[in-house]
Amino acid sequence: MWMLVGIACDLLVWPSTEHELGVSSDQELRRQSMTDHQIAVHRARDAVIAQDLDGVHRAGEGLAVGHDVRGLPEAARRTLQSVREAGAELARLSDLDQAATLLVELTASCARCHTMLDVPPKLPAQATQRDLLWTALEFRSEELWEDAAQGDPALLGLRYWDDRVLAVGLRLQGGAF
Ligand code: HEC
Repeated sequence: MWMLVGIACDLLVWPSTEHELGVSSDQELRRQSMTDHQIAVHRARDAVIAQDLDGVHRAGEGLAVGHDVRGLPEAARRTLQSVREAGAELARLSDLDQAATLLVELTASCARCHTMLDVPPKLPAQATQRDLLWTALEFRSEELWEDAAQGDPALLGLRYWDDRVLAVGLRLQGGAF
């Protein structure tokens, strides 16, 4: 019973907190933490492509820690926990194919929270075509995906997000980007 009340409160609190806080220090922290996450994901991706296991470990360590994202509904909190656990695993595994698979699974957790909370996509500064593709996955953005997949026959025409995530993972493993 109390758990249900807790979840209901979480759901009620999230939008109003967001609204009332405006650009508060909490929001600043959240954005900084998210930007760090995005940088770490893209570093991990580039390290997998470069077959640089140390680089994957370093990026994984960055994803395993992070500021608490305050005021989140419980379901969203779980997606953050998944990101951290996958980051910790990335930091210790020794197989680059596994790292590629784990990385795209982790990216799907970013997308789960962003779609749940309706967070609009944000591209990193000076985004490459590859960043565009990953940002599309991180935010599950149809529009960005269409742009990013242009001219890539292996990615165009995929209909479901699961297929898209899988296709990117396979291409990451094959080093074909
Ligand atoms: C638990 C939910 C959650 C998870 C998991 C999550 N995010 Fe976010 N993300 C948010 C929220 C909420 C915002 C909006 C922050 C704000 O403006 O208050 C956000 C914003 C962002 C932003 C925009 C930051 C800015 O400057 O406005 C980026 C980039 C981002 N997330 C990347 C990621 C990446 C990459 C991952 C996965 C490694 C991830 N996020 C995982 C909730 C989440």
